[in-house]
Amino acid sequence: MKIAILAGDGIGPEIVAQAVKVLKALARDGLALELEEAPFGGAGVDAHGEPLPEPTLKLARAADAVLCGAVGGPKYDGLPRAQRPEQGILRIRKDLGLFANLRPALMFPELVGASTLKPEVVSGLDVMIIRELTGDIYFGEPRGRRTNARGEREGYDTMVYSEPEIRRIAEVGFSTAMKRGKKLCSVDKENVLETSRFWREIVNDVAKKYPQVALSHLYVDNAAMQLVRAPKQFDVIVTGNMFGDILSDQAAMLTGSIGMLPSASLDAGGKGLYEPSHGSAPDIAGRNIANPLATILSCAMMLRYTFNKDEWAYRIEAAVKQVLAQGYRTADIHEAGTRKIGTREMGEAVVAAL
Ligand code: IPM
Ligand code: MG
Repeated sequence: MKIAILAGDGIGPEIVAQAVKVLKALARDGLALELEEAPFGGAGVDAHGEPLPEPTLKLARAADAVLCGAVGGPKYDGLPRAQRPEQGILRIRKDLGLFANLRPALMFPELVGASTLKPEVVSGLDVMIIRELTGDIYFGEPRGRRTNARGEREGYDTMVYSEPEIRRIAEVGFSTAMKRGKKLCSVDKENVLETSRFWREIVNDVAKKYPQVALSHLYVDNAAMQLVRAPKQFDVIVTGNMFGDILSDQAAMLTGSIGMLPSASLDAGGKGLYEPSHGSAPDIAGRNIANPLATILSCAMMLRYTFNKDEWAYRIEAAVKQVLAQGYRTADIHEAGTRKIGTREMGEAVVAAL
């Protein structure tokens, strides 16, 4: 099982180092893993002048799975768009065909107090957000700048979804719901957008194959409201690229810290890119305070979704639960009565718990 390790920028290298410790511990126990690192994001710009250098893309293509840290930082903010670290992540998603982004928002019982919402609203929360990742306004053409008929300058993008794109992500939504609570909520803006009207029509058509799944539709503004009002009403949410970008950050924060949440981006054959749901947090980079658990839990998703090694995934998840039960916390989830530890110490605690 060959894994490309793209640590990226900011806290990326520190948190990925902890996940690598966990993978190496599993390798010592008999899991046949082969890890290889390559520069990505700002680190790619520094090494090769672009966020997704050719050798990095080659490695990612050849690997069975990719583990990413995070990309971006103030140092790269002034670069032209094509060289921005974010373009690296968008390009790798597109190039590898990683159209299905799974972002679970799972509440660990030990962290209920870390949420900004009332305990009764969030305790027991377990929502899976499925975000389409290679279409929509993120990639639609044409896009750019132009001068309109009134002689004013304007910027524009194109929101577009093809039928096959909607069908395949809807399939992921329904099949995921079948393995969970059999409830799927499709989020769109059907009252305004033509793209969303088409989306809803296709989702309803795919639904005919899944009579056991209770399907509902919500407008994205209402979905955002429901997510903070009564998030436990949701089981699986399926939505487009941009709505999913926004709602998944919102859902992440329900659980107390975005530092806890893993993600998987899958292609049609189960190959995947795994990364924490959070960003590169340049303000705390290099200080040994970032939470590595989202990245470590991303490895569990990798073992489950790409390698079909459910038991090994479960071992990682159980180890994370154990360190939380032992009272270990990084700064982002620290509360009175728990023990504050650093990034490295958290990685080591998980390895010990394994
Ligand atoms: C995410 C991020 C990216 C996105 C950025 C970094 C391009 O916000 O993975 O959610 O918008 O998809
Ligand atoms: Mg985002």
